[in-house]
Amino acid sequence: MKIVIVGAGRGLGHVLAQMLAEKGHTVVAGLRRLDDTISERENLIYLQMDATDEGQIRDAVQWTKHHVGEIDAVVYVAGILLQSDRTETLLTESLDDIRKQIEVNALGLITVFRDFLPVIKKSGLFIGVTSEGGSFANEGSLFPAYGVSKTTANKIIQTLRVTVGESINVYAVHPGRMNTDMGRTTAQIEPEEAAIGFCNILEGTTHIEKDQWFIDYRGNAMPL
Ligand SMILES: NC(=O)c1ccc[n+]([C@@H]2O[C@H](COP(=O)([O-])OP(=O)(O)OC[C@H]3O[C@@H](n4cnc5c(N)ncnc54)[C@H](OP(=O)(O)O)[C@@H]3O)[C@@H](O)[C@H]2O)c1
Repeated sequence: MKIVIVGAGRGLGHVLAQMLAEKGHTVVAGLRRLDDTISERENLIYLQMDATDEGQIRDAVQWTKHHVGEIDAVVYVAGILLQSDRTETLLTESLDDIRKQIEVNALGLITVFRDFLPVIKKSGLFIGVTSEGGSFANEGSLFPAYGVSKTTANKIIQTLRVTVGESINVYAVHPGRMNTDMGRTTAQIEPEEAAIGFCNILEGTTHIEKDQWFIDYRGNAMPL
């Protein structure tokens, strides 16, 4: 398969890009900042893709189109949880910090989705990594702006899914509470376990109930 990962610098995105490449898939891995120390291989190519930079995403689409051709899937992993959101509430956190989290965790999805859509093959896949924190079933006292941004992300995914109809499959996926820079304080699993789940979804070996679009990394429905 040919797969684009946006947000492959650290954590889940990094592990998933490496795992897919080791399995023989062709991976175009997007980094917020290109890093000279990152090692490419024949089937794992790193490109600069700051999800909040429309020009960079458009350039990455053009590069992918010319060098890789039609792709099977895009996985949007990019996400931020700012330090202020770990301690402040919506009463006290700066609007600038709240805005930044919505920008990356939610609006970047729209940019990446609409620019890559013409390059995704028919019946291909778009996965937005969202979070259980985006569910209304989650009361929202922990990481408030992050939660708002992930609820927005879920609504964006639902809306994009309806907008494109049957042409591609679109999912919002909760990756589990992972031991990464972001998730260390609440972790229950290693990012490798989540990445295996994402590989199974991408390779089509996970059964996903028809009409389910907000699922966890094992394919189970998540509460809205
Ligand atoms: N960890 C958890 O327990 C957990 C739980 C639920 C959902 N999630 C979601 O799962 C995804 C991966 O989380 P993680 O734990 O792997 O986080 P992480 O270790 O903090 O990694 C986040 C990645 O997103 C990239 N990123 C941030 N802003 C970006 C931008 N503007 N453009 C492109 N890439 C950008 C980061 O790039 P840099 O390295 O350049 O900063 C980094 O590679 C996120 O969407 C997160 O919200 C995580």
